[in-house]
Amino acid sequence: PYVVTENCIKCKYMDCVEVCPVDCFYEGENMLVIHPDECIDCGVCEPECPAEAIKPDTETGLESWLELNANFAKSWPNVTTKRDALPDAKEWDGKPGKLELLSP
Ligand code: SF4
Ligand code: F3S
Repeated sequence: PYVVTENCIKCKYMDCVEVCPVDCFYEGENMLVIHPDECIDCGVCEPECPAEAIKPDTETGLESWLELNANFAKSWPNVTTKRDALPDAKEWDGKPGKLELLSP
């Protein structure tokens, strides 16, 4: 599957939800995740993310992000409609250390 990684946090641009053919994005307060069992690996969301936060899990070092996506996809609500990005998305885009700011 594809996974949402750190740079989504506090940006949440939401362009990804609009293109997913199987509606497998789940929404937290300041991040989205992909349900790994529902993602069909089509790859169309990856280039749509302005924050370049979406990656295929075949990339190295993404094990913990895959686990985080799987865990939150169980409790967060499904999201299928794009809304506005978070207000300070531009300022947070690319900032390091955002994992500790993730709202569970
Ligand atoms: Fe949806 Fe395809 Fe992205 Fe998976 S890779 S989350 S199926 S758009
Ligand atoms: Fe996040 Fe990118 Fe989607 S910032 S909400 S993964 S478009």
